[in-house]
Amino acid sequence: MRSKPLYYTKRGQAYVGDSLELMAELPDNSVDLVMTSPPFALRRQKTYGNVGETEYVDWIKLFGKEVFRVLKETGSFVLDLGGAYRSGVPSRSLYNFRVLLAFCDEIGFHLAEDFYWFNPAKLPSPIEWVNKRKIRAKDSVNTVWWFSKTAFPKADVRKVLAPYSDRMKKLIEDPESFYKPKKRPSGHDISAGFGKNNGGAIPANLLSIPNTDSNSSYLRLCEELGLQRHPARFPAELPAFFIKMLTDEKDIVLDIFAGSNTTGFSAEALNRKWLSFELDQQYLAASVIRFLEGYSVEEIREILFKLQINQSNFELGKIYCSFEPVKATKQRRQHIIQPSLFSTEDDFIGKNNSKNVQQGASPDDNSATLHCRR
Ligand SMILES: C[S@@+](CC[C@H](N)C(=O)[O-])C[C@H]1O[C@@H](n2cnc3c(N)ncnc32)[C@H](O)[C@@H]1O
Repeated sequence: MRSKPLYYTKRGQAYVGDSLELMAELPDNSVDLVMTSPPFALRRQKTYGNVGETEYVDWIKLFGKEVFRVLKETGSFVLDLGGAYRSGVPSRSLYNFRVLLAFCDEIGFHLAEDFYWFNPAKLPSPIEWVNKRKIRAKDSVNTVWWFSKTAFPKADVRKVLAPYSDRMKKLIEDPESFYKPKKRPSGHDISAGFGKNNGGAIPANLLSIPNTDSNSSYLRLCEELGLQRHPARFPAELPAFFIKMLTDEKDIVLDIFAGSNTTGFSAEALNRKWLSFELDQQYLAASVIRFLEGYSVEEIREILFKLQINQSNFELGKIYCSFEPVKATKQRRQHIIQPSLFSTEDDFIGKNNSKNVQQGASPDDNSATLHCRR
């Protein structure tokens, strides 16, 4: 890419800018997965800047067309869209369904599958219809459209198997006392293999993930450092589900509305390459703390200061990225040096740029080097 990232890790790069302009720097057919959550067409203005609902579909189509171009034939585009009410009335906006139709009918995407993200921790809203008048139920489901460029995108649900139910566990232990192999009226052939332990159940397209990361180091550090936390983050488990199902290790994952870079963080932990584009430099600068588990608050403060005033030109030796609280202190201390990914077009399309490769990198280690731009 021509632009310089604000920061980069062993596996990914985070860029400040309009993602339409940044995507224009990417080659055709180069990205495996675009996972994103755009500003929603909500009635109330949010601090991250919404676009009016009426213009929303036209606006987001511009991004959809670019995503279609940069996706590989086997690639997927996962778009998380929150629901909304129309202004002043208890009737729902249809914007998320209009986006779905426009993307398929006008851009040429396939709807590989519609997913629904259920957030049981969501607070009741809108207050007028739900809390005060009590004439609508709590809205706690986002539509998550899984688009693909062709009818057969790369996908493997075996990578995201759900835990078996207690009943299924018992069935696996003792299949004969639970069922007799036969064809059901529904047409399902319940054969003897039904009781086989496959390590988990095929996941449903309803993902129940509470958005409660109140203990996360991102929030803790935002608080400690007096940073504005991003107001519309999704939980890391959401991108992680699609990254696992739709990509292989070392594939390229792009988030075009990166916010606090939850997608990049998930991709790093899952050993995928990643690119994150975000318009707001403050949000993207703050997102670096996701990768700085194990640094002192003073060190982080200094890094953030430099990222925010665009004067940094230094390299840090340790990034630790994990969904779990950091346990491996020893591993954190290990100095891992790895150059930028995709720093030139050649790098991006996977050719080895040997002058960038330094000794000492461990491709399987969870640690990585962080670089910040001048
Ligand atoms: C819903 S938030 C994404 C939050 C993100 N998923 C997270 O977990 O932090 C949408 C983001 O899109 C950014 N944005 C809006 N227009 C943009 C554009 N044209 N290019 C890049 N980013 C944009 C906003 O600044 C906002 O941070």
